[in-house]
Amino acid sequence: MAKHVVITGANRGIGLNLCHQYRAKGYHVTAVVRQASEELKALDVTIISNIDVANEGDIVALQSQLHGHKIDLLINNAGVFHNESIADMDFAAINQQLAVNAVAPIRVTHALIHSLGIDAKVAMITSRMGSIADNGSGGYIGYRMSKAALNAASVSLAHELKDKKIAVGLFHPGFVQTQMVNFAGDISPEQAAERLTQRIDELNLENSGGFWHSNGETLPW
Ligand SMILES: NC(=O)c1ccc[n+]([C@@H]2O[C@H](COP(=O)([O-])OP(=O)(O)OC[C@H]3O[C@@H](n4cnc5c(N)ncnc54)[C@H](OP(=O)(O)O)[C@@H]3O)[C@@H](O)[C@H]2O)c1
Repeated sequence: MAKHVVITGANRGIGLNLCHQYRAKGYHVTAVVRQASEELKALDVTIISNIDVANEGDIVALQSQLHGHKIDLLINNAGVFHNESIADMDFAAINQQLAVNAVAPIRVTHALIHSLGIDAKVAMITSRMGSIADNGSGGYIGYRMSKAALNAASVSLAHELKDKKIAVGLFHPGFVQTQMVNFAGDISPEQAAERLTQRIDELNLENSGGFWHSNGETLPW
């Protein structure tokens, strides 16, 4: 039977390209979106729409739509990116980033945990901007906080889920040419997705809880 991957934030950018990659590898792909793009609709994937990952009721709806479906891989990819500093502050944006980037991946994982069987994997698409050791330039207060919080929570998940034989990995995609960064970046979303699938293939119970760049380097906390 084909393996089943569930991907959030799947309508564009890295998430859309992860859908492509996993279809090409023969997976059954469930794409979770607020609203499906034409590019996503053109793929041979199952689409679950009207899911805002930061909305508790939407995650209950997601859970019921996936009830009884075994999941081999959950990729928490949806994210938002803003920039705040003391000189240019936006607390609403900070709260939104915490809700979408840090709390939502945990809420989604919690909602779907009974569908994740032995040897399933959870991939968190985080950012090296969540690394405190790597912060050499400052700014981006909310984004950095949110990804650092996601990293902290994911290591706890990795410990807790080891008994269930579920591995949890934290993956920085690279600086990727998507809408999030106004299509700047030094690699394409296709390349990022290809690298991420390789890194996710390498994730196992022994290295669970690790934090990697999609190029394979281990990142500092
Ligand atoms: N691009 C980079 O250089 C880079 C670097 C490091 C980490 N990342 C991470 O990579 C992941 C994917 O980003 P991307 O570059 O592909 O950005 P993107 O093109 O902006 O895509 C972001 C995706 O997240 C979804 N999303 C945002 N808020 C959501 C919400 N509340 N509920 C449901 N879906 C939501 C968006 O859906 P809508 O279309 O509905 O808005 C979109 O599908 C993010 O976690 C990001 O932090 C990206």
